[in-house]
Amino acid sequence: MCGIVGAVAERNITAILLEGLKRLEYRGYDSAGVAVFTNDGILDRVRRPGKVSELDQALAATPLIGRLGIAHTRWATHGAPCERNAHPHFSGQNLAVVHNGIIENHEALREQLKAQGYVFTSDTDTEVIAHLLAHKLKDLHDLTVALKATVKELHGAYGLAVISADQPDRLVAARSGSPLVIGLGLGENFLASDQLALRQVTDRFMYLEEGDIAEIRRDSVQIWDIDGKAVEREAVQYGDNAESAEKGEYRHFMLKEIHEQPTVVQRTLEGRLSQQQVLVQAFGPEAPELFAKVRNVQIVACGTSYHAGMVARYWLEELAGIPCQVEVASEFRYRKVVVQPDTLFVTISQSGETADTLAALRNAKELGFLASLAICNVGISSLVRESDLTLLTQAGREIGVASTKAFTTQLVGLLLLTLSLGQVRGTLAPGVEATLVEELRRLPTRLGEALAMDSTVEKIAELFADKNHTLFLGRGAQYPVAMEGALKLKEISYIHAEAYPAGELKHGPLALVDNDMPVVTVAPNNELLEKLKSNLQEVRARGGELIVFADEKAGMSNGEGTHVVQMPHIHDILSPILYTIPLQLLSYYVAVLKGTDVDQPRNLAKSVTVE
Ligand code: AGP
Repeated sequence: MCGIVGAVAERNITAILLEGLKRLEYRGYDSAGVAVFTNDGILDRVRRPGKVSELDQALAATPLIGRLGIAHTRWATHGAPCERNAHPHFSGQNLAVVHNGIIENHEALREQLKAQGYVFTSDTDTEVIAHLLAHKLKDLHDLTVALKATVKELHGAYGLAVISADQPDRLVAARSGSPLVIGLGLGENFLASDQLALRQVTDRFMYLEEGDIAEIRRDSVQIWDIDGKAVEREAVQYGDNAESAEKGEYRHFMLKEIHEQPTVVQRTLEGRLSQQQVLVQAFGPEAPELFAKVRNVQIVACGTSYHAGMVARYWLEELAGIPCQVEVASEFRYRKVVVQPDTLFVTISQSGETADTLAALRNAKELGFLASLAICNVGISSLVRESDLTLLTQAGREIGVASTKAFTTQLVGLLLLTLSLGQVRGTLAPGVEATLVEELRRLPTRLGEALAMDSTVEKIAELFADKNHTLFLGRGAQYPVAMEGALKLKEISYIHAEAYPAGELKHGPLALVDNDMPVVTVAPNNELLEKLKSNLQEVRARGGELIVFADEKAGMSNGEGTHVVQMPHIHDILSPILYTIPLQLLSYYVAVLKGTDVDQPRNLAKSVTVE
């Protein structure tokens, strides 16, 4: 979850490290630090709690000038977010380490190292790596050799970058469970946990694989694989198509990303539809043959991506007649799973680096699934590289921690999957595919209409200014939409929000309803509408204030304690995508009213690369 940047060059690298950290801040932002082998020949560091801007100010006051350095932005796992626990961690005065991940055997190692006389100055698991490496160096002398010996004793996950004042010709790195990429320059080389951090200095990248150790010098890169064998990793060149990291006319990235949804949904559909059908090859050349064998689907994901999977279950069972199970990755990975024959294992992830989802995929490979498919937004992610099939959503870079456009493009990808499976297996009802392909083509326009309600939703948000709790209700495929609405609200406004299937209300949560507990619901015009209306009556009868996003043909209107926002009519199958929009806007405007940090809410990080 933390961000790592490193550089070895002929020029001063501090500004490069700092710019890299700013670009990585979406990964963690509790504290930040930089260590540089300075032109005066010493290893020096500056660390600050809080955001990278704090570090920036500190460096303006105390500049570090040098040609070799590492930097880190932290999302705290072990030890509070304070200067003492911020990376880089030192052993003595000559060795600095930054780390992304969790060392599970840190307590045992700490005791051993203390007994050998090492003094710990932080509460982190990372500091044990610094001292263990320093200890190995006493016998092995060479930094790269010592790192190889050190990682053999580490259990857990790590992306590591290390520099030493005794061997200032290199930066060494190790990857296990946490991504690292080398940026290749001319007479200078770089390292980062995400290529985005290095787009300012290069467009050529080399991705480390699991278990790799790298020695990065100004003019050379050497890599050894998990067995210690010297290997070459392919260098990839990217054109300058990086998404803009600017907010433009928008006050926050989240609002910008909400408004990008018509465009990115359009992009996700491009090249994947023929006149009346989904092009199954969009999932890869082997997809048609493989999909014909699929008899079950197992979906695994986390957070918002999990909610997308929950919606897909309704689609897969209703449209394609395929039994589907959906589970959060952190549970799936530790469960003794019984795999049905011919089950397609599907992961969903914006980042493609979520630790639990990746671990679930790796476990699944041992369990006899038919094949694995990743629905992912990042083509160069671990999840994509390790899956048999891929469908890339085309959401572009999502910077706001609260996932918005990634969710709706995942839903589009999952509907394409549903139609592809149904098409290949011949289980779709006649005419359904052609109708839905047509509806998908109209979807960007419908989303634009929903976004035009921006100011109406902004006014509704005022109802939440003094509230501490909210219930979200939905039925059928709108239940996961309600879950996503509740997640968005709690994530960025810190209001406690819970989602329930509306029919469950009277089995317990109704006891919570009073005039301090607004109830938000989405009401497309479908066969469950009348049942939903009865549930809403139950809320009104207890004094609960209702906020209903309802189909224009649902026959619902404003009344005492009932605020109805009319939604454009849409085919019921696509309604989860459309009804997500007002809930995203609602959370956004409530958070703005509450004055929270919308794009970087407290305690969270964009990419959850630790367990
Ligand atoms: C949602 O707003 C969150 N940021 C979070 O739940 C996220 O969806 C989850 O961590 C999964 O991330 P992924 O899609 O990158 O795997």
